[in-house]
Amino acid sequence: MNAPTTPQGLPGQPQVAYAGDQLHVEGVCLSELAREHGTPLFVYSKAAMLSALAAYQRGFAGRNAQICYAMKANSSLAVLQVFADAGCGFDIVSGGELARVLAAGGDPAKVIFSGVGKTRHEMKQALQVGIGCFNVESEAELDVLSAVAADLGKVAPVSLRVNPNVDPKTHPYISTGLKGNKFGIAHEDAQRAYRHAASLPGLKVVGIDCHIGSQITDSTPYLDAMDRVLDLVADIEAAGIAIHHIDFGGGLGINYNGDTPPEADALWAQLLAKLDARGYGQRQLMIEPGRSLVGNAGVCLTEVLYLKPGEQKNFCIVDAAMNDLPRPAMYQAFHQIVPVSQHSGDGVVYDVVGPVCESGDWIGRDRQLVVQAGDVLAVLSAGAYCMSMASNYNTRGRAAEILVDGTKAHLIRQRESAFDTFALEQLV
Ligand code: LLP
Repeated sequence: MNAPTTPQGLPGQPQVAYAGDQLHVEGVCLSELAREHGTPLFVYSKAAMLSALAAYQRGFAGRNAQICYAMKANSSLAVLQVFADAGCGFDIVSGGELARVLAAGGDPAKVIFSGVGKTRHEMKQALQVGIGCFNVESEAELDVLSAVAADLGKVAPVSLRVNPNVDPKTHPYISTGLKGNKFGIAHEDAQRAYRHAASLPGLKVVGIDCHIGSQITDSTPYLDAMDRVLDLVADIEAAGIAIHHIDFGGGLGINYNGDTPPEADALWAQLLAKLDARGYGQRQLMIEPGRSLVGNAGVCLTEVLYLKPGEQKNFCIVDAAMNDLPRPAMYQAFHQIVPVSQHSGDGVVYDVVGPVCESGDWIGRDRQLVVQAGDVLAVLSAGAYCMSMASNYNTRGRAAEILVDGTKAHLIRQRESAFDTFALEQLV
């Protein structure tokens, strides 16, 4: 595998670059990876993940801050290992995610547990391994958590997720900090909920948190949410309840299609200035970024199976589908699609679609491509919320995954076989 000689980093994905006509991830040629491992194939750049993390680390230099990677974005073990080795904690939302953190060598003391529907079993599991904090989302959950902890003879560290009622101006399915969303405790109920938490024997209040949405490309909603949360901290502490840490959630967007979110360090320079101005700069800070750490670190390789010209549309039928890349079907999301091996010629406009039996199974619409059957395409910005949301719909085994580190390509997940997809089933 030749290292790229004149890499032209793609927008938003500097570690994905053409050397001559061949697309590379770091020093690894993607055509060769597709030949060796087959398609669909997810390929991630370790350097891209670490460079995204470094932007946050620069932003928090000299502060008492803990970065908890929101692993729902990409929970593959080797990806978690990259972040655990770099000192990150994890934001989890299920007992399954906790099991993954432990399997990847993550530190349970740096785990925070979010989510509106934690079960008693999951609470117990998390208390037994000693996670850092439960981000509680309702008053009813406070009572259950206290009882579960008391039964175990433990005290659960808790933060209350407040819903600041701020519009993050993103897709409605991934906006979480508005009154009509199921998340968090309403701003006006927070005081009461904190007093209730402080009165329960199985709980110890340690923090406050919020998370207003995902793929946020503007700093204003963050600044507004911070104001709302800090107002609450002042009121809660006036009632004699100490707030040790403040957690501002995740949500920073990435460049999918010319999007221009602030860099993590620039965003945090703005937020920390506000925090300092309001006198909270020395508190322990937590954040829960997901997409912005991994989204632009990954691509999905897919082979063109058939070209199907039509009267109204031309279809480019590929071997990846909505079960591998669910974001277009679910959120009408845009992912760039480029050839791994560039040809010259006149492009034709295609809808790039998968083999799944639904018209919703599309990956890109109206894309100009110079392409023929057998070519391999790269779907860009596929590091976040693709593999972790993949399914076996149409009894399609999930794709394999590769982690690239310089010129080395590590297979980090084998392709699922058809047998794997029904291995837990049995005939009557
Ligand atoms: N913290 C909490 C409590 C969350 O619910 C989320 C994401 C995050 C942190 C991380 O947010 P991020 O930094 O990744 O934006 N599947 C959707 C995104 C769902 C986000 C869910 N919560 C998509 O593909 O766009």
